[in-house]
Amino acid sequence: MSATQKRILITGANKGIGCATSGAVLAASDEPHVLLGSRSLERGEAARAELVAQNPGWASRIRVLGIDVSDDLSVSEAAQTVAAWFEGEAHPLFGLVNNAGIGLGSAEMQTVLNVNTHGPRRVCEAFIGLLDPGQGRIVNVSSASGTMFVAACSEERQRMLTSPDVTWQQIEALMHEALALEAARGDFASAGLGDGSAYGFSKACLNAYTIALARQHPNLTINACTPGFIETDLTRPFAESRGMDPKAMGMKSPEEGTKATLHLLLGELSGSGWYFGSDAQRSPLDRYRAPGDPPYQGE
Ligand SMILES: NC(=O)c1ccc[n+]([C@@H]2O[C@H](COP(=O)([O-])OP(=O)(O)OC[C@H]3O[C@@H](n4cnc5c(N)ncnc54)[C@H](OP(=O)(O)O)[C@@H]3O)[C@@H](O)[C@H]2O)c1
Repeated sequence: MSATQKRILITGANKGIGCATSGAVLAASDEPHVLLGSRSLERGEAARAELVAQNPGWASRIRVLGIDVSDDLSVSEAAQTVAAWFEGEAHPLFGLVNNAGIGLGSAEMQTVLNVNTHGPRRVCEAFIGLLDPGQGRIVNVSSASGTMFVAACSEERQRMLTSPDVTWQQIEALMHEALALEAARGDFASAGLGDGSAYGFSKACLNAYTIALARQHPNLTINACTPGFIETDLTRPFAESRGMDPKAMGMKSPEEGTKATLHLLLGELSGSGWYFGSDAQRSPLDRYRAPGDPPYQGE
């Protein structure tokens, strides 16, 4: 990697929290360069233009990368593009932020899992070899919905989803089980899987994957976090369906949703495989910890 550039790939960065994170990373210091991931090059270029309008000095520090995290071919082509852009550098990336996500609405569980859980795994598998093996960082943008999902699970499911020894094979088997349950219109609560919320389940699985990945790659720093309750295209319909003003519901701005990711990318860290609240403090995986509450110390 170039000594003066910290290149960071952020997926789903054409709007919402991903776009705000791009700006926050660029504003943090002169070192970071952003590979602004977007499944639509047009929307990616529009986001780049918005960021450059905010700060013309950022023009040389943002490149748009086409990447649809739900698609194997798109992800592998994106990794080849990055390798070709920085040919001659074995490890051109400092950081990877798996931000792209969907699903508080009515999408089917399979679609939600494909973007929110398989998506980050696909991207990690394709890009991990391009990350700086000495100081590379990965941030999986998860959600408090994941921890609340685990809180409503049976003890056995909770143990699996929070185990330091959890494997991708176990996570995948659990996803298959949940999909079969959904297809059979089965009862998630009696299967120990809470209310069966596809979104919460996808983020609980993402948190478990973060543990497994960090264990496999002790040389990298790999963590997950929630951005908080943020007003974006993802959450606005939730307020609208209740006839409420997003701010009155407690939603914050996308800029306020970048704190934890920024800390996990560029701050001083002492752990890997952990989950952080929106206040950038370590939080438990099996219950909600509100911003400002004492940090979780581990068990
Ligand atoms: N907002 C909140 O309160 C909140 C809370 C907890 C966690 N989160 C998490 O934060 C992350 C960002 O969400 P947001 O609130 O900023 O939502 P958003 O405004 O809807 O942005 C989502 C981003 O993900 C992209 N995306 C969706 N599917 C994709 C795919 N298959 N491949 C590549 N990109 C894809 C979208 O691209 P298009 O424009 O092409 O659709 C968009 O850029 C998500 O992981 C979400 O689960 C958000």
